Parts: sequence; structure tokens; C-alpha cells
Amino acid sequence: MEKLVKDNLVRDIGVCNFTIRKLEKLLKLAQTTPSVCQMEMHPGWRNNKMLDACKRNGIHVTAYSPLGSGNLIHHPVVEMIAKKVNKSPAQVLVKWAFQRGTSVIAKSTHADRIKENIMVAGWEIPQEDFQVLSSIPDQAVYTSHCWLTLIYTAL
Ligand SMILES: NC(=O)c1ccc[n+]([C@@H]2O[C@H](COP(=O)([O-])OP(=O)(O)OC[C@H]3O[C@@H](n4cnc5c(N)ncnc54)[C@H](OP(=O)(O)O)[C@@H]3O)[C@@H](O)[C@H]2O)c1
Repeated sequence: MEKLVKDNLVRDIGVCNFTIRKLEKLLKLAQTTPSVCQMEMHPGWRNNKMLDACKRNGIHVTAYSPLGSGNLIHHPVVEMIAKKVNKSPAQVLVKWAFQRGTSVIAKSTHADRIKENIMVAGWEIPQEDFQVLSSIPDQAVYTSHCWLTLIYTAL
């Protein structure tokens, strides 16, 4: 992959589903620092330590499953904040990710929802609500990705 960058065949290379240990190991060997690290991230799976590690090393983070694979859309805290800021739960979840400095890849099979999910400019989740959202109990047990991540982390 580094050769592809040197040969000007690709501009950026990245990693996905990395642990801090794997990232540190890679950074010791790499000639090209990854531009981006993609990992599961949403209020129920915050991955703060990896986010900090990436920020320290100038690696941009992309959050996948930012809506908790749809599971967080009906979470009472998300619904409560969405009502307060007059946005949809999905928009609140996308905005939460942006306010943490990550990009997102949210998925929908509905055109109207895709449009809705990107309409997040010109407003902010107030700090107190951001903190509440950032403290909801960890939902790792509810999502299969998280189980995979837990197993992966343990290896
Ligand atoms: N790199 C990796 O290892 C990895 C792992 C997992 C996922 N990903 C990628 O991450 C992306 C998203 O992940 P994901 O699909 O797990 O989770 P997600 O984007 O968090 O959630 C998708 C779910 O939310 C629903 N949804 C989307 N917008 C909505 C809205 N406005 N209102 C209500 N429901 C809404 C969708 O249903 P509808 O389709 O019915 O709207 C779908 O069930 C995918 O492109 C996937 O390829 C990457």
C-alpha cells in the first residue's frame, strides 16, 4: 500500500478496526502514516481511547455504524435530545460524531433518510446534551460488530 502512494497511484491509505496496540506497532514500521482509521463509533460505543490515539498521531477517524446500526434511533436519550434541538434522532447521532471531529458513513436504503442524515449544518448539540449523549451506557452487548470488536481487541 505504501508503494501505491509512492507511485502516485493512490493519494491516501488507511486502516480499519485497529486497536491501539496494532496502531502503535504499525506506526513504528510505517513509512507512510495512515491518513484515516475507520472504526465503529456511536454514543453506545465511543471508542475514546482509539479516537485519542488517532488524534495524537494526526490520523483522521471515520465512524462506521454511527446510528448504532439503527439501534440507537429509538434510544430514549437520543429521542429526548432530538426533540429538544428539533432534529431527527439520526441527525443528532450524525452531529454527535461531527462534534467529536470524526466523519461518518451512515447507511440507509431510503433516499429521504439519506437526505435527512446529511442535513446537519448550521446547528450544534448543546454541550450539556453532548455530555449526556456521551455517557449513555455502553451498548456493546447489543451489536454484533461490537462483539467482533471485543474479540478482536482481546487477540
Ligand atoms: N469497516 C467495517 O468493518 C464496517 C463494519 C460495519 C459497517 N461498515 C459500514 O458502515 C456503514 C453503516 O453501517 P451500518 O449499516 O451498520 O449502520 P448505521 O449507518 O449506523 O445504521 C443503518 C441503519 O439505520 C437505519 N437508518 C438510517 N437512517 C435512518 C433514519 N434517518 N431514520 C431511521 N432509520 C435510519 C437504516 O435503515 P434503512 O436502510 O431502512 O433506512 C439501517 O437499518 C455501512 O456502509 C457499512 O458498510 C463498515
